[in-house]
Amino acid sequence: MLDQQDNYVTADGRTIGGTMMEMRNITLRFGGVVAIKDISFDIREGEIRAIIGPNGAGKSSMLNVISGFYHPQEGEVWFRGSKRPSMKPYEVARQGIARTFQNIALFEGMSVLDNVMTGRLTNMKTGLLAQAMWRGKAQREETENREAVEKIIDFLEIQHIRKTPVGRLPYGLKKRVELARALAAEPKLLLLDEPMAGMNVEEKEDMSRFILDVNDEYGTTIALIEHDMGVVMDLSDRVVVMDYGKKIGDGTPAEILANQAVIDAYLGVAHD
Ligand SMILES: Nc1ncnc2c1ncn2[C@@H]1O[C@H](COP(=O)(O)OP(=O)(O)OP(=O)(O)O)[C@@H](O)[C@H]1O
Ligand SMILES: [Mg+2]
Repeated sequence: MLDQQDNYVTADGRTIGGTMMEMRNITLRFGGVVAIKDISFDIREGEIRAIIGPNGAGKSSMLNVISGFYHPQEGEVWFRGSKRPSMKPYEVARQGIARTFQNIALFEGMSVLDNVMTGRLTNMKTGLLAQAMWRGKAQREETENREAVEKIIDFLEIQHIRKTPVGRLPYGLKKRVELARALAAEPKLLLLDEPMAGMNVEEKEDMSRFILDVNDEYGTTIALIEHDMGVVMDLSDRVVVMDYGKKIGDGTPAEILANQAVIDAYLGVAHD
């Protein structure tokens, strides 16, 4: 439902704003492999947008295009009304886009606290030279960073493991630490690549709740890839469906469930 401001009101009463990110006719090739074929879709301010599809559909590739890890051969990426030039991942991060990875990428030997602190690096204003010259300013920034990180650690309920080396944690908690690190950058858009893969039912419920809370309390826009259709239907406002690099569906969870092309793509396909 659209109101006068072009806002979109969800079934559960949340207001979704205008377009934040627009992918226009994106094509991405690796040699002869076409990972993404002429795909367009948008992400609106404040929404939870899911990207689904069978293995190898091109979902991670799409998140990698958004985060600047891959550069499409064709198409345009628009962010908050401007066409984005080709950017490196750290430049994209500075625009307020943070991510987690399909395969956890944390520093296993470092504590939870230190791992989450690394998420603040993109926000640091004081460089190394400045830190040497103006110790007061650098110390103030350090204190601010610590406070922000402690808040996130409380929010995600990982206080009890803050000093534990990440390598000793069970898988489900590692995924939560990775979410904490991404949140530490205070992103406007958060990209989650299979945040619940390999989790048991209880861990999935916890992670779902945290994702909804992040969206609700911080107003963070979220794009996530997920194979568990129950989770996708519960969490997302709108869903993009990919299959063999093409977009085969785009709409609300209810629309997607009724889409014959989507049903066909999923029949007989193994998922993890
Ligand atoms: N860096 C790369 N070099 C070469 N080919 C790649 C690269 N990254 C992805 N691909 C290919 O692009 C296609 C899409 O892969 P992608 O990882 O995006 O799929 P996916 O939808 O995330 O799958 P999954 O559900 O298994 O994670 C695959 O054929 C894959 O082999
Ligand atoms: Mg993937």
